[in-house]
Amino acid sequence: MTSSRTNPEGPIEPEGLAETEGLTGSAAWELLLPAASAPARTRGRSLQAALREAVRSGRLAPDTRLPSSRDLAADLGVSRGLVTEAYEQLTAEGYLRSGRGAGTWVGGSVRAARPRARDLAPRSPGARADFVPGTPDLSLFPRAAWAAAQRAVLAELPHDLLGYPDPRGLPRLRTALAELLARRRGVVADPERLVVVSGVAQATALLGFVLHARGTHTVGVEDPGSPQHDSLYAAAGVGTVPLPLDEEGLAVAPLRASGVRVVVTTPAHQFPTGIAYSARRRAQLLDWARSVDGLVFEDDYDGDFRYDRAPVGALQGLDPEHVAYAGSVSKSLVPGLRLGWLLVPESLADEVVERKRTMDLGHPTLDQALFARFLERGDYDRQLRRCQRAYRQRRDALVAALEEHFPGAEVTGIAAGLHVIAELPEKYGPQEDFLARAASAGVAVRPLSAYAHARVDDAVVRLVLGYAQLSPARIGAGIRLMADAVRAHEL
Ligand SMILES: Cc1ncc(COP(=O)(O)O)c(C=O)c1O
Repeated sequence: MTSSRTNPEGPIEPEGLAETEGLTGSAAWELLLPAASAPARTRGRSLQAALREAVRSGRLAPDTRLPSSRDLAADLGVSRGLVTEAYEQLTAEGYLRSGRGAGTWVGGSVRAARPRARDLAPRSPGARADFVPGTPDLSLFPRAAWAAAQRAVLAELPHDLLGYPDPRGLPRLRTALAELLARRRGVVADPERLVVVSGVAQATALLGFVLHARGTHTVGVEDPGSPQHDSLYAAAGVGTVPLPLDEEGLAVAPLRASGVRVVVTTPAHQFPTGIAYSARRRAQLLDWARSVDGLVFEDDYDGDFRYDRAPVGALQGLDPEHVAYAGSVSKSLVPGLRLGWLLVPESLADEVVERKRTMDLGHPTLDQALFARFLERGDYDRQLRRCQRAYRQRRDALVAALEEHFPGAEVTGIAAGLHVIAELPEKYGPQEDFLARAASAGVAVRPLSAYAHARVDDAVVRLVLGYAQLSPARIGAGIRLMADAVRAHEL
């Protein structure tokens, strides 16, 4: 997989400018005029913020050429120095780039929240078969054990624990979590550096705020990758630079060339391709982090599930000072609990904890005490074993159904997690037609291209198939439905 957008400081191709005139004439006025009329004291900063926002929101598309600083200053009625300063600042941040000769362009690599974020809508109500990934089987939630733990916790929790909690989380929960993560994921888990958060989503945002406050304005993300990473970092004011993958994980050369010092990864089961990062790639990634004094954010969103051999340990265990590790119960229990953890290097711990405190004054105490009890009594391990059994069966059912109904399909990413990638034989393309037929048959299914930053070749059908939420029988029926819908059009 490759991306044409890996290097914000990359060379500028002079050709193609004619199509990307962009910010000229009235467009410049509309976007930047409010900032230009801000009080003199804050005008420079307002102008920079307005430009940054225009790039982030996509109103100024990648590779758009900006007017000269002289023209823009004249259009806006501000000093040329303010515009030059804004261009320089945003170029340093990676939002803009300057060419070999004169000229400034919107960086081709910077993207933040954009329509791809619609992909977050997790389920497709009314679908006859729903293969959209992201949600576990909600009926596997252990209601009886949870209710028992809730009753016990309410009865035993001392009054003094009902005040404002430690923003890191209840010590009892952090100790139990540290034990779990060390045992199951090979994480070096110091309870002092663990923060209980409301899911990987909050872990991402927290880290984004801390990095932004430290002057980091762009981070690298996997391409294809989770739209969630882009939108959460954008919310913290941090842009994302899409970086390509190869068969071993995130490709290292483009990472080095990108100039970023923070990169977001899903090494256990890359989202969405399902690649498990090779041992060599893990080592290379950590070498990179050390060489730039950087940070790898490890999103271990479904690292608990590995089917054919023991789970690969987390990257964090190899270098706890260069990896921030996050996980949650969203796949192992249910996403609605909004419960997760973030483990950070010592150098970031105080700032992260302070951010958590200012964000929400700490995670709800009862939920924490309940989960601590659930961990301590072995209920969580039982739940993981139960899910693991159910999901292995479903994965096997999906692979078998694909073999039967789409012979020749190449199915990858099957070793772990809760979804696979199926690349169908060429005859099923183009992808757009295939998806339309699947949708008309009531099958909700998402292509791999929905998670890509750059445009990809859609001649071949590549599907991301989530299987956790469907019984084996429904998986078989759904794949058959999809095959029938496609065949009906061949006749
Ligand atoms: C890549 C990735 N990270 C994290 C999450 C889960 O986030 P949370 O723990 O906030 O529910 C998801 C959810 O589907 C995901 O796809």
